[in-house]
Amino acid sequence: MLELNHIYKTFNKNKNPNELFNDLNLKVDTGEFVTVIGSNGSGKSTILNLICGNTLPDSGEIIFNGKDLTKEKEYKRYRQIGRVFQNPALGNCSNMTVLENLMLAENKNKAWNLKKMKDSSREKFVEMLKPLGLGLENKMDSTINDLSGGQRQAVSLLMTTLSDIELLVLDEHTAALDPKTGEKVMQITKKIVEERNLTTIMVTHNLEHALAYGNRIIMLHEGEIILDLSGEEKENTKMDDILNLFNQISIRRGNSI
Ligand SMILES: Nc1ncnc2c1ncn2[C@@H]1O[C@H](COP(=O)(O)OP(=O)(O)O)[C@@H](O)[C@H]1O
Ligand SMILES: [Mg+2]
Repeated sequence: MLELNHIYKTFNKNKNPNELFNDLNLKVDTGEFVTVIGSNGSGKSTILNLICGNTLPDSGEIIFNGKDLTKEKEYKRYRQIGRVFQNPALGNCSNMTVLENLMLAENKNKAWNLKKMKDSSREKFVEMLKPLGLGLENKMDSTINDLSGGQRQAVSLLMTTLSDIELLVLDEHTAALDPKTGEKVMQITKKIVEERNLTTIMVTHNLEHALAYGNRIIMLHEGEIILDLSGEEKENTKMDDILNLFNQISIRRGNSI
């Protein structure tokens, strides 16, 4: 289980303080797939940053499977966490080939020797890439630079899940893709999450994806969780319900989202 307990966070404390979290609490059960929505600046990425360790809370604690991660260094957390970003250039080494990237990822927490492993892993990766349906199995020796955005995100996803991670963190990982490729990458995401039974937190601006995928949906507004639905309750939630909620917020704020 992942727990964010009593999180407080204010940015720019000295000049112009911007209080984001004032006693934020969130528990995610092992195996849950949570989709996170909310308007710009509501704190979605910051929650992911707190979990991964590139933002530290002012107070509160982050516990993962009973272990206190609050003060643990970012690189150590990444031993058990995989993260895919919105920008397809961030999750991989763009001047290296697909094969080299996959090998690096597979050996994330180990001592490794790229030359030795090169050919022993090739066939295995080809078999992993084929079912993704993006033709990546024929691009093993292409550099990441030569791939489309969708192909890159698929490689990044596969890379995060090649080592023994327990938590997958996705920050709008389909937002930079065209709608059709975005759908494809979402289907690949679902497949990987189900096969590996990964606890997953996915931030998305795509409300259809937020409703169609995962078993829990959370909506953030100005650093507060204002909607949290799981299981059947989530399944029964329609796009209109979510849009109404967005409208209520923007009316309350007196501006648009
Ligand atoms: N590193 C940072 N320094 C200063 N302010 C930040 C930083 N990260 C986030 N913020 C502020 O926190 C708020 C929430 O940001 P963020 O979590 O990125 O929102 P979202 O991902 O929901 O769009 C915003 O007001 C943003 O400006
Ligand atoms: Mg964000």
